[in-house]
Amino acid sequence: MINDRLPSSWRDFPIQQQPSYPDQEQLHQVEAQLQSMPPLVFAQEIRDLKQHLAEVVNGRGFLLQGGDCAESFNQFGADKIRDTFKVLLQMAVVLTFAGRRPVTKIARMAGQFAKPRSADFEDVNGQSLASFRGDIINSAGTDPADRIPDPQRMLQAYHQSASTLNLLRAFAQGGLADLHQVHRWNTSFVEASPSRERYQIMSDRIEDALAFMEVCGVTSQSAPSIRETQLFTSHEALLLNYEEALSRIDSFTGLCYNCSAHFVWIGERTRQLDHAHVEFFKHIENPIGVKIGPATRADDLIRLIDALNPENEAGRLTLITRMGADTLADVLPGLIRAVQKEGRQVLWSSDPMHGNTVKSNSGYKTRQFDQILRELHQFFAVHRAEGSYPGGIHLEMTGEHVTECTGGAYPISDSDLATRYLTSCDPRLNANQVLDLAYLIADALRDVQVEPDKV
Ligand code: PEP
Ligand code: CO
Repeated sequence: MINDRLPSSWRDFPIQQQPSYPDQEQLHQVEAQLQSMPPLVFAQEIRDLKQHLAEVVNGRGFLLQGGDCAESFNQFGADKIRDTFKVLLQMAVVLTFAGRRPVTKIARMAGQFAKPRSADFEDVNGQSLASFRGDIINSAGTDPADRIPDPQRMLQAYHQSASTLNLLRAFAQGGLADLHQVHRWNTSFVEASPSRERYQIMSDRIEDALAFMEVCGVTSQSAPSIRETQLFTSHEALLLNYEEALSRIDSFTGLCYNCSAHFVWIGERTRQLDHAHVEFFKHIENPIGVKIGPATRADDLIRLIDALNPENEAGRLTLITRMGADTLADVLPGLIRAVQKEGRQVLWSSDPMHGNTVKSNSGYKTRQFDQILRELHQFFAVHRAEGSYPGGIHLEMTGEHVTECTGGAYPISDSDLATRYLTSCDPRLNANQVLDLAYLIADALRDVQVEPDKV
């Protein structure tokens, strides 16, 4: 039985990108089981994150969001979680120092399973198969039976998310996040890097700042903020059966929170104003995101903002722009002006990945490091020109040494892509490329000004 108080009104609206489950009875059983499970996150944590993001909207923080394009059931393990956690923290230290603002960290982890697809069928070795929609829905196997949506997969995704979250919480509180430790990893990265000369100055300055704080008595022992961190979780809330089943009414406030993650977003393909995803998101209190592509019109954007954030609450809504390096400068200024003119409070974040996907000569889906960097630089430049605050970045990345995006200081070429192309969906930046990016946007971040009325 679906509880009336859970947000189920989306079921009466048109919906895109959903599986069609052959066994409805089994689907209902799984939904009921998920409803009886403990929530993955706690409503108070969700409120805390919204507070952090409200600070970012006002120029007093920066958002770093990143992780896999799609988590996978097969490639699941402690090392993989640890390595992505480490590289997120390493990047955050560089961005905090460069921008002189606290960085709120949100992982695309512990629930990032469901994928929108451009077609219902895909060609695999000459065979037409129903598209793989992420491990929470079907399997990527090449037998047609593998592609049949199976509701039991939602339970596996839930359990995998719970153990991922458990380890992330242990890492965040249990010593792995110590600032001195994170800085030592960065020092090793810089010392080995072909771009060492370029990165060294900042690395030395961070070293000096830590030494100074230590002398002043701000140490791992004396200050929890040096020893511990807070890492929030997020995913695209695409599979609404799962998202509804993990929504809970908070006993303190009586309000409804999606407790599958702290932050959830609507993808570029499912953000139609009169469709199910927007309807579902209206009924949850979480901080939320919406992906905004190059075809977005300013008047549609304002309508979407008003549907999703009718109270104009700072921290509720993050617009994640994913324009493409060649398009951003033409499209983003008009959208920023419309938002400013209407006085809407949004957090602007840049996803420099999804507008820059290309097919390599060798046939792999890839992204060029320089295009990703170029989109980020343009994002900062456009916001500067428009007097608005570029509040965050959103990356598909991993701590593993994969070869999925080309370029970077340890250059990966087209012919290297086959070496370690492990993603179950889109190409991710590897650990070295992520850190290159952090050092290369540091200057742009340092130069970000906050308009006087925002301070
Ligand atoms: C994604 O973030 O993996 C994704 C599918 O993005 P978009 O909705 O922007 O295409
Ligand atoms: Co993706």
